[in-house]
Amino acid sequence: MNEKERVLFLRKELERHNYNYYVKNRPVISDRDFDEMMSELIGLEARHPELEDDLSPSKRVGSDLSIEFKQVEHAAPMLSLGNTYSREEVAAFYHRIEEGLGGEPFRICCELKFDGLGISLIYEKKRLLRAVTRGDGVRGDDVTENVKTIRSIPLCLDESVPDDRFEIRGEILMPWISFERLNREREAREEPLFANPRNAASGTLKSKSSAVVAGRGLDAYLYYMLGERVTGDSHFENMQKASEWGFKVSGEMKRADTLEGVFAFIDYWDLQRKNLPVATDGIVLKVDSIIQQRRLGSTAKSPRWAIAYKFPAERACTELQSVTFQVGRTGAVTPVANMKPVQLSGTVVKRASLHNEDIIRQLDLHIGDMVYVEKAGEIIPQIVGVNRESRSETLREAVTFISRCPECGEKLVRYEGEAAHYCPNDMGCPPQKKGKIVHFISREAMNIESLGPETVEDYFDRGLIHDVADLYQLKITDICGADRTREKSARKIIDGIERSKQAGFDRVLFALGIRFVGKVVARTLATYFRDVETLGKASLEELLSVDGVGAVIAQSLRGWFEKKTNRDLLERLKASGVRMNLSEEEKVSDRLAGKSIVISGTFTRHSREDYKEIIEKHSGKSVSGISGKTSFVLAGENMGPSKLEKARKLGVPIISESDFLHLLEEE
Ligand code: IVH
Repeated sequence: MNEKERVLFLRKELERHNYNYYVKNRPVISDRDFDEMMSELIGLEARHPELEDDLSPSKRVGSDLSIEFKQVEHAAPMLSLGNTYSREEVAAFYHRIEEGLGGEPFRICCELKFDGLGISLIYEKKRLLRAVTRGDGVRGDDVTENVKTIRSIPLCLDESVPDDRFEIRGEILMPWISFERLNREREAREEPLFANPRNAASGTLKSKSSAVVAGRGLDAYLYYMLGERVTGDSHFENMQKASEWGFKVSGEMKRADTLEGVFAFIDYWDLQRKNLPVATDGIVLKVDSIIQQRRLGSTAKSPRWAIAYKFPAERACTELQSVTFQVGRTGAVTPVANMKPVQLSGTVVKRASLHNEDIIRQLDLHIGDMVYVEKAGEIIPQIVGVNRESRSETLREAVTFISRCPECGEKLVRYEGEAAHYCPNDMGCPPQKKGKIVHFISREAMNIESLGPETVEDYFDRGLIHDVADLYQLKITDICGADRTREKSARKIIDGIERSKQAGFDRVLFALGIRFVGKVVARTLATYFRDVETLGKASLEELLSVDGVGAVIAQSLRGWFEKKTNRDLLERLKASGVRMNLSEEEKVSDRLAGKSIVISGTFTRHSREDYKEIIEKHSGKSVSGISGKTSFVLAGENMGPSKLEKARKLGVPIISESDFLHLLEEE
């Protein structure tokens, strides 16, 4: 096999393994073997630019070049479906079909209604030509670059598939597991959470960076095929064929010959959908025969041959008794509705977040209102509306947002462009002070396992601790007093606190809870500045030159270090023996000492984040902008053209990923 044949072989093999993993959920090789084949392919592709193919599996990692979405017209409009909410409406649909077909036998294909966003994929000569969002149904956005990163979507099809152009439509979704991971990460960075997987999928697909999309774990189910020459008369069989061609088609489609059969499908999935890995919001019913579909036709908006049955949103109606305001660790004030307890899909609901002032206004809430509560994403209860009819004329006090902090009385502020109100008294407001300590001890921060949030609250309320530095002054007798029986557990707590002194500079930095300094930023800062004194003295410009640090983070850091109380806190932590520098062991070599390196493009062996860390471990600095001082650019694939030009102009060397790794190995 020559190298060209090897490239073609590897591409095919890698796509086969993507299929086994992401469509069939049955991988047949280890991740490690997969990665090895991928590295080999990337190496060969680099040596043979003439074999360049933008549908190569090596391109599935995406790129961080900004995408401009072009608008594209659909060959046939992407209609939406009429909705039904009751068995009666479903029966009415069924009888309309019976009538429309003049008594001719027909079958209904019953499917899950996936809750994501519609997509149209066009294939020609067995290759993905284009992927377009539904848009307004007539024209949508060309999102091909982003869709290529979704590994369950085939890029090239097998020999057995005809060369004809065809279109296949389906739904892009974010599985629950990816959704939960994404929201966890966003929560840690204090970014607004996505309300449900649909919003998360749609936000992700519209991202301008396909590298971001590649990391978000999107998936796709296909549910309709168009194309004169490739489709037969049965929709169900067309989908079986699509499945054989490598598309991900739901295994939960069933044909029903009777209305009872349709109801049985609905009843089954109303309960079972809770066990699916993706969100569904109903059932789709389609006449199976394409000839019959054509005879029944469509209205301007939706086909007459198909309908959606929406599962009843789990909703309850109850009385709004009061609204209280909670102050979080960051000072963000959240309004909370307190309601008369009500049963909602298996749990008793009595509280719901109202999020912010705008939402209270939109709902036009009054105390005593009867409100509708639903579970968003099946988990968190939300107030979705007010039963206006039950509001009597005489009463009621409209709910208004407070202007002062309910905990410390400080005047609240609302920052430009943000929906939330904040209490700015971060040094004196009790829940903020308590919250800071709870954050400090948490697993991702100092990881003081022997202490929990309740214990911290208890110590705070008892006046044993006022801030994080006080933790290191705690004595066994403070904790257990004269009660000798509690000595053992008190000792355990003190030991845990003692151990945390060695947690590491990056953890301390994250644990301090400086606004916008998340885990990743803390690690970057720790490896770049190496100790807290150097970081504290860094100017705004110096902070901004660190890759991954923008104006918002830099200003927040400067503001934090400028406050005397914060500097005193650091002194006290240091005096207690909390390590706030990088130890010598955390350094691998001095190979890159004194070098300023710019990372650009996308990489295959390690992520950008990893490269940053590698550079820093070898005593180099990773910086964001190219200048005369830059030692070299570590360039992955698709390095931005402006960066390329600048590097050339300034004579800054450009080093490839593999050369860079060799450079370090020589050591
Ligand atoms: S068929 C003309 N099948 O629901 C028929 N749609 O409210 C076109 N959807 O825009 C759609 N699951 O994005 C079909 N199994 C399924 C579906 C499905 C989800 C979405 C689709 C459509 C929307 C209609």
